[in-house]
Amino acid sequence: MKEPTTTEIEIETSAVTTMLPPPLTGSPHQALVERLKDYGQEGVFALWDELSPEERDHLLRDIENLDLPRIDRIIRCSLHSQGLPVAAIEPVPENCVSTVDERTKEDREKWWRMGLKAIYEGKLGVVLLSGGQGTRLGSSDPKGCYNIGLPSGKSLFQIQAERILCVQRLAAQAMSEGSTRPVTIQWYIMTSPFTHEPTQKFFESHKYFGLEPEQVTFFQQGTLPCISKDGKFIMETPFSLAKAPDGNGGVYAALKSSRLLEDMASRGIKYVDCYGVDNVLVRVADPTFLGYFIDKGAASAAKVVRKAYPQEKVGVFVRRGKGGPLTVVEYTELDQSMASATNQQTGRLQFCWSNVCLHMFTLEFLNQVVNGLEKDSVYHLAEKKIPSINGFTEGLKLEQFIFDCFPYAPSTALFEVLREEEFAPVKNANGSNFDTPDSARLLVLRLHTRWVVAAGGFLTHSVPLYATGVEVSPLCSYTGENLEAICRGRTFHAPCEISL
Ligand code: UD1
Repeated sequence: MKEPTTTEIEIETSAVTTMLPPPLTGSPHQALVERLKDYGQEGVFALWDELSPEERDHLLRDIENLDLPRIDRIIRCSLHSQGLPVAAIEPVPENCVSTVDERTKEDREKWWRMGLKAIYEGKLGVVLLSGGQGTRLGSSDPKGCYNIGLPSGKSLFQIQAERILCVQRLAAQAMSEGSTRPVTIQWYIMTSPFTHEPTQKFFESHKYFGLEPEQVTFFQQGTLPCISKDGKFIMETPFSLAKAPDGNGGVYAALKSSRLLEDMASRGIKYVDCYGVDNVLVRVADPTFLGYFIDKGAASAAKVVRKAYPQEKVGVFVRRGKGGPLTVVEYTELDQSMASATNQQTGRLQFCWSNVCLHMFTLEFLNQVVNGLEKDSVYHLAEKKIPSINGFTEGLKLEQFIFDCFPYAPSTALFEVLREEEFAPVKNANGSNFDTPDSARLLVLRLHTRWVVAAGGFLTHSVPLYATGVEVSPLCSYTGENLEAICRGRTFHAPCEISL
């Protein structure tokens, strides 16, 4: 098809403009007011008389773009469910988790090979949840653009892109027996209206960090109006609603509306790795986890770490109801006495399996979820300060969570990993007590220093070793493998990056 020229685009745009109804100058659009009355939301027109024609036009479009019956259902069901009793939760039985201790070397090697084979065959797709705003980090950029101050100065996006490049190379080397068939992992990046454009631009300006542009697909999650405690829309300005992304579980509706599950199926993808952007140690497209998942034959799986302390801000896996399905209770929703309850025999926390926001699904199960979860109109209600015409006001954000699908899974496998190897969250700005860029950087430097020393390398350092270390480029090594050739007998002056 012929690409339209700039002039054609201009002509088309002006044609669209002239076809639109003229902006209303008198009373509000009566039909819309009547419709809003059905949902008790006609208050959004309270300041109508004071609006300019352009502002009226803006407000009308804002409202027209809403799926009012769906939003009304979500608000009513979510508010209603607040006071209802929920099924009791139980700790996850130990035998439901593949623990690090029980894993043999043979298991690990088998899963690694199985995973690499599936990746080589193009069966793995990766979905990155990157629609959240880095409000807690104090940055207005998408979180993935954040540079946590590693010696390389790499952003979270770059580190993750390079891990994908590394796994592609490992799969090609392991499976292609001398030939050079390239291996491609498709990377689907979910943004939100607040992060979409800057994310795309960041990738473009960094030449996709060495990935092929065709293997990266950006798609946007939706937003929902923020509401007051009695369910009314909050106005951010006199002519626009306050809206927020619909939670990382918005990925299901977004995958559906952008038809990306069909795209995955057409490429032969069978397994989907889905993870959060803000863990610097995340093993994206981990062959071992994939091999384990395939071996287990489960519909869904999640990596878990042992919870560090009762108040740690992590969701925990639980069993919902007697013998019920595994699911996650978010840290904001777990009763404090339960969070601190310990097992009398072991002394360990009862609810100890922390969610690190790294999940694996079969494409088949994802298809069921995107068609089923939408019918579940109970969203989580997060109390937040919402920007409004009256300044910041107490209100509610409506969110679905990525782990809301677990109760629907025919089977869920939990896979323990070590936090010092795979969990370095970046949530809060430096100066906070935990999960900061500084704390995450140290976790990376410590792990990579151990890799280098184990591979026969030496370190010198002019600052205390506990505050520094070396960084290994993901282009060199994924989990510490293949470092002998680069490190044995060499001395590195920390802090520095070891790269190819
Ligand atoms: C999340 C998990 C929590 C887990 C913790 C581990 C959820 C709901 N909670 O909590 O159980 O223990 O990570 O670090 O998964 N995101 C979107 N769209 C949104 C909101 C968030 O894509 O609308 C993305 C974020 O960019 C991030 C991920 O989802 O990559 C996690 O979101 P965040 O709000 O940071 O969750 P936490 O509260 O840290």
